[in-house]
Amino acid sequence: MLDATRIVLDKAKLDAEYLHADVGWQFWCAEGNPLPQRTIELMKKTDCAMFGAITSKPRTIADDELAPELKNKGLVYRSPIVRMRQLFDLYVCKRPCKAIPNNPLNYKEGIDFVIFRENTEDLYSGYEFNTIPEAMFRIKGMEKLPRDAAISIKVNTPKGCERIIKAAFEFAKKEKRKKVTCVHKANVVRASDGLFLETFERIAKEYPDIESGDANVDSLCQWLLKKPFNYDVLVAPNLYGDIISDLCAQMTGGLGFGSSGNIGEDYAVFEPTHGSAPKYTGMYKVNPIATILAAKMMLEWLGETELAIRLEKAITDVVHEGTVRTYDMGGDASSLDMATAIANKL
Ligand code: IPM
Ligand code: MG
Repeated sequence: MLDATRIVLDKAKLDAEYLHADVGWQFWCAEGNPLPQRTIELMKKTDCAMFGAITSKPRTIADDELAPELKNKGLVYRSPIVRMRQLFDLYVCKRPCKAIPNNPLNYKEGIDFVIFRENTEDLYSGYEFNTIPEAMFRIKGMEKLPRDAAISIKVNTPKGCERIIKAAFEFAKKEKRKKVTCVHKANVVRASDGLFLETFERIAKEYPDIESGDANVDSLCQWLLKKPFNYDVLVAPNLYGDIISDLCAQMTGGLGFGSSGNIGEDYAVFEPTHGSAPKYTGMYKVNPIATILAAKMMLEWLGETELAIRLEKAITDVVHEGTVRTYDMGGDASSLDMATAIANKL
C-alpha cells in the first residue's frame, strides 16, 4: 500500500527524499532477522518512517520457515514493529478512530475518538521464558510455579505509565477534547494495571478542565459498542490498547481505515493498523486508506499542517462521494484507483 500512498504524496508535492529499507518476513526466513541492522542504521538517517503492512507469525511457524542453515541456532523471532517501537522509544501509539461520513462500513455515523496506546512496555517488554529460570523458584511465593510453565512478564513502570497518560491529556487539551478514559484490568491485574490506574488518577488532577474516567477493558468493549459517543480519548497499556484498536477500527470502517502513529520524542513511525493480508499480495486489491491516513498523520508530525488538512479533506470527499470504492466497501476499484482518486482531489 506504500505504492498507493506515494501516488498521493507525490501529487501533494511533499518535499522529501524517500529511502527504501528491508523489513519483514522474507528477511527472517533468509537472514534470521526481520529487522536487519542495515535498516536500523538507515532509519537513523531519516526524519521518520512509513512502515508498510507486514506479517507476524507465532513461534512455531516462525521457526518452521527459517532457512535450513539458520535452524537450531536459537534465533528468536521478534516482530519488527515491536522492536522499532522499543529501539526508537516510540512510546505513544496514536490511533484515531473516526467514522468518515457516508462510509458504508461505519458502525455508526459520527464516531470520533482517539486511542493512546502505551507502546514500549507491558506484555510486549520481551521478558519471556519458554521454561522458567531456576532462580525464579527461589523467590518467595513462586516456589509452587509449575515446572513446565511458559511465562511472559508484564512490566509497567512509573515512567512508562506517566508519559503515555500525560501525552493523552496533553492531546485532549490541545485538541479541545472533553474526556480521557483510562483502560485497565486493575481489579485482577493488581500490581501492573494498579500502577497504571493510580498514575492516571494522579495525573488527571492536573487537568481539572478535562473530564476523566476509567473502565475495565472487558466492560469497556461492550460499552464501546453500546454507547460509542461516550468516548473521546482512550488511554491504555500496550496489550489492551492493541486489542481495543481492532475493535475500534471495525467500528469506523474496518482495518482498511485504521492508521497508527508510533511517536517518540524525536522519531516516529507511521503505519496502517492492519496486517498484510498475504492472499492479496501484489494484487492492489485492498483499501489503501489506512496507509494514506497514516501518511496524513506523518504530515502533521512533520509540521506540514496545511497539507495534512488538504489530504484529510481529499480522503473524506472520495469516501463521501462513493464513486471509487475498493472491494471491502462494496466496489471494484483497485488500491491504485482509490489513491489516484484521492490524489486528484488535492
Ligand atoms: C498492531 C499489531 C502489532 C502489535 C503486531 C503486528 C505485532 O497488531 O500494531 O496493532 O501487536 O502491536
Ligand atoms: Mg494490533
